[in-house]
Amino acid sequence: MTLPYNFSPGPAMLPPEVLDQVRADLPEWHWHGVGQGASVMEVSHRGKAFEALIGEAEQDLRDLLSIPANYRVIFMQGGAWGQFAAVPMNLLRAGETADYLVSGGWSKSAVGEASKFGAVNVLASSENDGYTRVPARNEWKSTWTENGAAAPVQPGVQSPSYIYACSNETVYGNEIHSLPRNLPAPLVIDASSHFLSRPMDVSACGLIYAGAQKNIGPAGVTIIIVRDDLLDRAPKNIPSVFHYKHMADNRSLFNTPPVFAIYVTALTLKWIKAQGGLAAMERRAIARSSMLYDALDASRLFKAPVAKADRSRMNVVFDSGDADIDAAFVKFCDERGLKSLKGHRVRGGMRASLYNAMPVAGVEALVAAVREFEALRA
Ligand SMILES: Cc1ncc(COP(=O)(O)O)c(C=O)c1O
Repeated sequence: MTLPYNFSPGPAMLPPEVLDQVRADLPEWHWHGVGQGASVMEVSHRGKAFEALIGEAEQDLRDLLSIPANYRVIFMQGGAWGQFAAVPMNLLRAGETADYLVSGGWSKSAVGEASKFGAVNVLASSENDGYTRVPARNEWKSTWTENGAAAPVQPGVQSPSYIYACSNETVYGNEIHSLPRNLPAPLVIDASSHFLSRPMDVSACGLIYAGAQKNIGPAGVTIIIVRDDLLDRAPKNIPSVFHYKHMADNRSLFNTPPVFAIYVTALTLKWIKAQGGLAAMERRAIARSSMLYDALDASRLFKAPVAKADRSRMNVVFDSGDADIDAAFVKFCDERGLKSLKGHRVRGGMRASLYNAMPVAGVEALVAAVREFEALRA
């Protein structure tokens, strides 16, 4: 892998081996060596080959995450924004609250969508700190008594239907490194921007979802992993394409699925397995991110503002405190083949997204650019 390096937050870089396979399959898709007479975009999703592909993708995902048998896997459309609505539509029961931890713009947006469907309780928010940290458990304004497992709800207070958190806030660059436990309701996790970058204890969650376009594939498919006892909660009057039980019972083939996105995702899952699985992805993620954070912590010009314990391994946010210097650095990097480092428009500064496909050499090149730029301005 050589320059340019793509630090885009998503859609983001895919492994070159996956892109090579896609290129080879484009004129005619070969499924386990058998030509299908057309590209994957041109064959029926109800054909044997595509049904086998989606089944294998699910099995590879189950193997990678050690998903327990009582969890279902669903491939949906509508992106993570679709899930901001689908989660409360399916899981928020009348007379209960949905309790949200707000650690960045995505969890805040999820609160906004959930509020359209029922009562939302914000457990805690780090907005006043510019989302430079994940709120600690002792800051939660819980509707239940925090004294251990399944603590009773206080008299007269609504109990939560579920407890929601975003485990990696892509824009502000914070990550929940250890999922909360001993909760009185199922934990729902938006894992979009660090999904499959590390092992994850699925059994600690009632539901996990992730849009594919950061670590595992192109935009267009969202993966949902849901504990089967939660499937019966949904009222009948919600749209079929967002009804978890309906979609799961139809093996994600109720209507035409995003075939190309699922196909590329299936290839990426095989790539992750071949690389050594999630333990290997995690080792690489730690190596890449610590190299960059170390360089930023040693820098006199740039700062990484997120609290050390909450720093994201996937999205490294930093700035100089001066918008002109930041813009000059983004341009300096761009001219050296280090692409898409501009921070999100609401955050400013820089953001280096270091997903699974980013080679260590890309981070070494970025660290060299940080040092060179700083030396030029000294
Ligand atoms: C953590 C997280 N959640 C939700 C979203 C929204 O995803 P989408 O635009 O696919 O709906 C994003 C997008 O970047 C994200 O990073």
